[in-house]
Amino acid sequence: MSAMRHFASAEIGIGHNGNPAKLPVLQPTIGPPMADIRKLYREAGCYAYDPALGQTGICRSAITYVDGESGVLLYRGYPIADLVERCSYVEICWLLLNGELPTAAQLERFTHDITHHTMVNEQLHAIYRGFRRDAHPMAVMCGVVGALAAFYHDGLDIFDPLHRMIASHRLIAKMPTIAAMAYKYSLGQPFVYPRNDLSYAENLLNMLFSVPCEAYRAPAAAARALEALLIIQADHEQNASTSAMRLVGSTRANPYACTAAAIAALWGPLHGGANEGVLETLAEIGTVDRIPEILRRAKDNSDPFRLMGFGHRVYKSYDPRAKVLRQRCYEILDALGQRDDPLLALAMELERVTLADDYFIERKLYPNVDFYSGIIFRALGLPPAMFTPVFAVARTVGWVAHWNEMIADPETRIFRPRQLYTGPVERALVAIDERAAHQPLVG
Ligand code: CMC
Repeated sequence: MSAMRHFASAEIGIGHNGNPAKLPVLQPTIGPPMADIRKLYREAGCYAYDPALGQTGICRSAITYVDGESGVLLYRGYPIADLVERCSYVEICWLLLNGELPTAAQLERFTHDITHHTMVNEQLHAIYRGFRRDAHPMAVMCGVVGALAAFYHDGLDIFDPLHRMIASHRLIAKMPTIAAMAYKYSLGQPFVYPRNDLSYAENLLNMLFSVPCEAYRAPAAAARALEALLIIQADHEQNASTSAMRLVGSTRANPYACTAAAIAALWGPLHGGANEGVLETLAEIGTVDRIPEILRRAKDNSDPFRLMGFGHRVYKSYDPRAKVLRQRCYEILDALGQRDDPLLALAMELERVTLADDYFIERKLYPNVDFYSGIIFRALGLPPAMFTPVFAVARTVGWVAHWNEMIADPETRIFRPRQLYTGPVERALVAIDERAAHQPLVG
């Protein structure tokens, strides 16, 4: 539980009848205080209007802290750059789930648990075969992960901490297998079973890239690069997919259904789907001389086109995740022998030009995590359609950590936002033969 304290009540002048409302103000361990508006209607006779929830804290959480102005990202208090430098992904999973870094004995036991839950029920293979080969792997993952509930109906008591822990471990362990199977299915290649002698990242690479007819060993540089990406994408407080996990979880739905909802949210091009979009945009630009043309489109407010991999709701400075990945990008491409990739040169030039462009400067639009993760995923040999599935693998621990935190929080109630109604006021029903005279032409 966080050390959140109550401030003395603060008077906020928002009553619809002109009366100020007296609301408690909550003080987090770091970050700005928050007015507690739960009694706003009772006190002031009005609700709060905040579409997209940009100003609203939807929960208390002790997992991840983001300071968008200064570009800070902490998991359980530890800076992201230190974690990438010094920890393994499985260690980070323990940290996010349990609040502290594991001891050597705890890590050994946890690694064993995760490693020994990586296989999926053979019946799942039949579910894959129901999909078209050209299905997007995120569509396959939404379906397959939701279907997991059908295999574990004996472990779905969400108020039993043991059931919750087992479900969390299962999801973290099986997600790489599920993502890799979606890839193999799209290629028409046999599924590759997980290997318990490999690390989490090596095992994922092995399931993605090995075939039964020849030996495969993931390059050490590729495993290190993937490990860094997994850590960087493991959690990001109340982002859209984690909020989807919490929203669905608040109905007391099972964790597999909640995770399927989170995967669906992650798929969107404004969220995790942006990493696939970055590569599409770079391919569309093609050469450095076409950058001004694409920037003109991005800056035209009448054109829905957005420059993928730029901008963030919270970060109004350089995304700290992009900063870590940017530093590593050259190192990784060097190690993988891809330093001369013209796409990297194009990406660097695109970054340079946007950082000097008034439109991007005024709006504080910087490269985000998806800009560099897309480039690194490509260097690992993944096709763009597999970037977001691997992001989903990494983010699963964040989703389940938040879900566990929410279920254990006595303040949790079903999410049920309000709305600003703009439809007609109550009116009398008109008989069908008289309707034409009453309504504007529709349809
Ligand atoms: N390209 C061009 N213009 C942009 C972009 C962009 N990528 N991002 C924001 N803007 C403009 C936007 O048009 C608006 O301009 P104006 O004030 O003239 O109307 C202004 O910047 C503010 O943008 P916003 O849409 O109000 O910001 P938001 O907080 O609602 O959206 C965002 C955040 C991430 C959805 C948005 O920046 C975006 O669409 N970026 C591209 C998609 C992307 O890279 N997403 C990955 C986000 S990070 C990882 C993750 O979540 O998975």
